[in-house]
Amino acid sequence: MTTTIALITGANKGIGFATARQLGARGMIVLVGARDAARGREAERALRDGGANARFVPLDVTDEQSVAAAAKLVEQEYGHLDVLVNNAGIVRADGSALPSETTLGTLREVYETNVFGVVVLTNALLPLLGRAPAARIVNVSSEVGSIAVMTDPEGALFGLTSVPYPSSKAALNMVTAMYAKELRDTPIKVNAANPGYCATDLNHNSGFRTPEQGAEVSVHLATLPADGPSGLLWGYQMDAGGGYGVLPW
Ligand SMILES: NC(=O)c1ccc[n+]([C@@H]2O[C@H](COP(=O)([O-])OP(=O)(O)OC[C@H]3O[C@@H](n4cnc5c(N)ncnc54)[C@H](OP(=O)(O)O)[C@@H]3O)[C@@H](O)[C@H]2O)c1
Repeated sequence: MTTTIALITGANKGIGFATARQLGARGMIVLVGARDAARGREAERALRDGGANARFVPLDVTDEQSVAAAAKLVEQEYGHLDVLVNNAGIVRADGSALPSETTLGTLREVYETNVFGVVVLTNALLPLLGRAPAARIVNVSSEVGSIAVMTDPEGALFGLTSVPYPSSKAALNMVTAMYAKELRDTPIKVNAANPGYCATDLNHNSGFRTPEQGAEVSVHLATLPADGPSGLLWGYQMDAGGGYGVLPW
């Protein structure tokens, strides 16, 4: 039996770290993608101390050379990839987060990580994902990327107006749907995850869910059975009173 290999981007902390821990607990070799070597090695050590077969992989998703080097490492060391969790993400906003205050620099910075990085890394790894018996790609998105959720006057998020982060996640949702379409006749499944509002550095630890709970969503999509879905936004349903399920785009 071949070993199951999972690469998680932004795995040195938050939801990504928790995802690495949970996938490691299921016996997968977890490749801990991190852009900072010290933080990546520390996460690798913590995961190993917890019993996981973890290995730090230097990876800045906004840097093409770093992406190419990570793909080469996976190819040379493992020859294939079973699970890719595109988890790395950033939040930025200008002024009081009104659309009219949005700057080009902030938009570019957020899209480089949350959208462009996902496409570049996924394309670099697709040949290796194709060599796995049934690869899974999980794009960690958000309910704030759902136009239906964000424009529901009765919804909890109707008051949010920021452009960079929500629109980057809406773009990521479309990216997910398009990859699922291209890969629909293959065993590869591609889905977007909504972890729900989790307490991490991303939101100054203001979330009401834990990173472990957020990671459950990525792990579910990373371990879907052969008859599982592809091309969905799935995860925590705040407006449905909690619980997990499919969210509208
Ligand atoms: N927390 C929530 O409530 C929530 C809700 C919905 C969706 N999400 C999504 O969940 C994902 C994880 O977020 P989190 O809450 O766990 O945030 P976090 O604790 O801030 O972790 C973000 C991770 O992404 C990494 N990262 C950022 N830019 C990167 C780059 N260019 N290359 C590689 N890694 C990079 C960070 O590395 P450094 O440590 O080096 O900065 C860190 O490891 C994100 O995609 C976020 O949008 C979070």
